[in-house]
This record gives sequence, C-alpha cells and structure tokens, in this order.
Amino acid sequence: PHAVVVAGARPNFVKAKPVLDALAAGGFRTTLVHTGQHYDEAMSGVFFAELDLRRPDHHLAAGSGSHAVQTAAVMTAFEPLLERLAPDVVVVFGDVNSTLACALVAAKAGVRAAHVEAGLRSGDRSMPEEINRIVADHLCADLFATSPDAVENLLREGAAPRSVHLVGNVMVDTLLARRDEALARPTLAELGLRPGGYGLVTLHRPANVDDAAALDGLLGALGEIATRCPLVFPAHPRTAARVGGRLPAGVRLLGPVGYLDSVALQAGARIVLTDSGGIQEESTVLGVPCLTLRESTERPLTVTEGTNRVVGRDRRVVVTAALDTLEHPPPPRRPALWDGQAGRRIAQVLAQAVAHPSAGGVS
Ligand code: UD1
Repeated sequence: PHAVVVAGARPNFVKAKPVLDALAAGGFRTTLVHTGQHYDEAMSGVFFAELDLRRPDHHLAAGSGSHAVQTAAVMTAFEPLLERLAPDVVVVFGDVNSTLACALVAAKAGVRAAHVEAGLRSGDRSMPEEINRIVADHLCADLFATSPDAVENLLREGAAPRSVHLVGNVMVDTLLARRDEALARPTLAELGLRPGGYGLVTLHRPANVDDAAALDGLLGALGEIATRCPLVFPAHPRTAARVGGRLPAGVRLLGPVGYLDSVALQAGARIVLTDSGGIQEESTVLGVPCLTLRESTERPLTVTEGTNRVVGRDRRVVVTAALDTLEHPPPPRRPALWDGQAGRRIAQVLAQAVAHPSAGGVS
C-alpha cells in the first residue's frame, strides 16, 4: 500500500517522523509531502536535520499569507499532485492550515484521509486551529486520538465508532526517542543557564501576540515573574516582530530554537509558560510544571494527568499562579498510552483499513 504523509509546519514535522517510520516498517510505500507553510531554516530545515526526516518527495512552496490565501495555496498545489500519486491513504497531522487543506483535497478526490491527533477541542472557535480541527475530523475516515477526551468529542460530534482509534501520542514517541540526545547537548551551558535555574517562555497565538493589550499584560507578568526566576523566551518570528523593544528586565529573547534545543530547554526549566499545544504535552512528559497562558486548552489530559495549569492571560492571575507553582511544583505524571508506541499502533490500524476499506478501521 501507498501512504502520502503531509507535513507543513513545525509541530507536524515532529509528529510525522514516527508515523513515517512505522508505516515503512509495516510494509507501506510512503511519500512525504512538505506543504511549505513553514519554510525558514529555523522553522523547517533544522527539524528535518535533527529528526532525521528524509528530504520531502514533494515541496508545495505554499508559504505565508492570510488563512484563505495560505489554505488555498496548499489546496491548489496538492490537488494535481494527489491525482498523480493516487495513494491508498493521505495522512495529516494536528491542526495547522496545511492539515485542513490536504484533508479537504483528499476527501473530495475520494482518497481515504487519516487524521493523527484527532478530536482535540478547546471549545474556542476564535482559534484558527479549532476550526481546522473540527473540519479535518469531519473529513477523515481514520481518526487517531491521543486521549479519551478526544474520543468522546469525536463520538459526540457523530463520528462512526469504528473510525475512532485511541492510539496515544506520536509527539511523545519522538520525545521519548530523542530525550537523552537532547539532554546531552550543551544547550544550557552555551546560554549560561543551569538546570532548574530559569523559566522557559513561548508565545505565538494570535490572541496573545497580535493583540497589543494582551501582549503588554503578558510582558508585564513575565517581568514580575523574572524578579523571582529569570526567563528565556525563544520567539517565533511573528512574536519577535511584535515584542520589538518592549522586553522587561530579566527576560531574554532568543530566536526560534530547533527540536533538540527546545527539549533541552524544557527539561532544564523550573517552570514553563506557554500558549503552545505541543509544549503543554512535552512538559507533562518531562515532568516540568507548565502554565498555559490561554483561556482554554484542547489538551485537558495535561491538566488532569500532567503538570499543566490553564491560567489565562490576566496579569495578576498569571503572576500569582507562577509564584505559587515555583513554591509548590506539581508532581510529575504521565498519561497512560503516551508510551512511545503510538506510531506503531497507527500503522497497524492503517494497514487493516487499506486492506479492507469497506469495513472501516478496527477499534
Ligand atoms: C502555525 C499554526 C499554529 C502552530 C504554529 C507552529 C495555523 C493556522 N497555525 O502558526 O497552529 O502552532 O504554526 O509554529 O496553521 N514565518 C516565518 N518563517 C516561516 C514561517 C512563518 O517567518 O518559516 C512568519 C511569517 O511572517 C508568517 C508568520 O510567521 O506570516 C505566520 O506563519 P503561519 O504559518 O501563517 O502561522 P504560524 O503563526 O506559524
């Protein structure tokens, strides 16, 4: 069987690696398509190098733009390619615009589509990712969930039970495979940091960085927290552009970091403050306390079975929660099934699904 695997943005690359490997081990021919949503060396190239991802077989060069422009660019380039490749299944990951675009093209072309990381819901439709998740899930025949809450969301929205598979978390597959290598790197020493001696910040959600009042409040909170615990802040390009010269004392801005440095920085941190989805999960697996600077999370397992607290973006609430977490760090816990084997489970289900397409997947 032939699987087309689509990756477009930073977090997709981390998730694609274990699935590509497991599909190949399970007898699939795999074709890797890079949509080009992320294209800089720091946002794309370094992930391919560090993750040992093979060169994409096809690069769609979609680039940046408004949501409609970017989504349409991916769709327009992917449609003729998919027709040529005529695979048994298209695999998409996560919730970025590339995910939605390729799921939609596959569904309309009558090609089986599979969604890895299906069923996550924040309940907040002002997030572009929430729209992408909902629509992608309704287009895909195979829905791979990381957590029981995601399974419930899918069934509540009417997904056929046989299409829903609780397989665990492929981002954790990659994390467990690469953690030791990340920890052996000189990342902290090169930045003059010592383990447990700093906090890590990442922000890139439009609601946090594109809204000047929200960003000001968050920067104020970071400045207060930094009087107790110095902070390092590797910034996504959109964030770096917005923060400009308004950084408080004690907060150090870095450029975007690669995968292994990101894991090393998280593992060594005393606290993580983030609006990223993936970092909520990675900090849980690494046992590092995480505060999510959003009003909601689509990853409630990181709260109920991990180290995460969702604290919003109000300056006082964020500072109080951070000081409390520094004093009383939560115990490390890891959700069941986040065990490094999710890619293998996905490949098993897909092998069955393409061999017996009318029967749907096996649960
Ligand atoms: C995208 C995802 C988001 C994900 C994030 C991971 C969507 C809707 N959003 O957000 O869910 O968490 O990726 O990083 O798909 N840029 C560069 N270099 C690049 C790519 C982008 O400088 O290689 C800059 C451009 O100025 C661009 C901006 O970042 O306009 C936004 O990029 P885009 O892909 O539209 O969304 P992200 O904010 O990266």
